[in-house]
Amino acid sequence: MRKLVYLVASTLDGFIAGPDGKDPTGPGGFWPVPEDYLAHLISEYPEALPVQAREALSISGEGRHFDTVVEGRRSYELGLAVGVADAFPHLRHLVFSRTLSDLPPSAVEVVPADPVSTVRELKNQRGKDIWLVGGGTLAGALYTEIDRIVLKLAPLTIGSGVPMFSADAEFDPRAWTLTDRTVLPSGAMFLTYDR
Ligand SMILES: NC(=O)c1ccc[n+]([C@@H]2O[C@H](COP(=O)([O-])OP(=O)(O)OC[C@H]3O[C@@H](n4cnc5c(N)ncnc54)[C@H](OP(=O)(O)O)[C@@H]3O)[C@@H](O)[C@H]2O)c1
Repeated sequence: MRKLVYLVASTLDGFIAGPDGKDPTGPGGFWPVPEDYLAHLISEYPEALPVQAREALSISGEGRHFDTVVEGRRSYELGLAVGVADAFPHLRHLVFSRTLSDLPPSAVEVVPADPVSTVRELKNQRGKDIWLVGGGTLAGALYTEIDRIVLKLAPLTIGSGVPMFSADAEFDPRAWTLTDRTVLPSGAMFLTYDR
């Protein structure tokens, strides 16, 4: 069965964005993107780069790990706000939302249904793994379905922001096994944990 993989960039204190929820990696943002981090991401997870970056870097073709991405509405809207209706056209792209309507044409599938049952159906289909891009609210709803966490850990603390799992997720301690790790000279790390 294919896996649901939460591949996410996190600070040392477990946040995936600042309190304003905006992309913190752009010009003037507080979250630096070191060259070694970007190089590792490009070589290991080229499908996790948004379409604009893939075009700029002449990356094409199928994903190495994933053929499907699932995303929460608020994360999806960040791309929409800058005119990107589908940041991942090279993947089947499902956006969970009960409110989105009147979207520009794209291959994105808006899913108003329960993320857990939808993900269980996806897992039973043939294919590569499923990337849970976030954000924290959708990750909280899918907490019990996550088979692997790939943490792109930044050597940064921010004190407050959007947590990796929403604060209203249920208390449910789970143990994970470290199955892969890459420590980069910049201090960033890629840590893979499996259930
Ligand atoms: N660091 C990273 O790698 C990374 C990756 C992705 C996102 N992010 C950040 O994450 C932030 C957004 O995260 P977020 O937690 O605010 O929102 P989110 O998880 O992206 O989206 C939440 C929305 O998903 C929809 N949804 C559908 N079914 C749901 C269910 N059963 N439970 C919960 N939500 C459901 C709802 O949309 P409706 O209200 O329309 O129903 C809900 O409001 C942004 O700041 C973004 O930058 C960071």
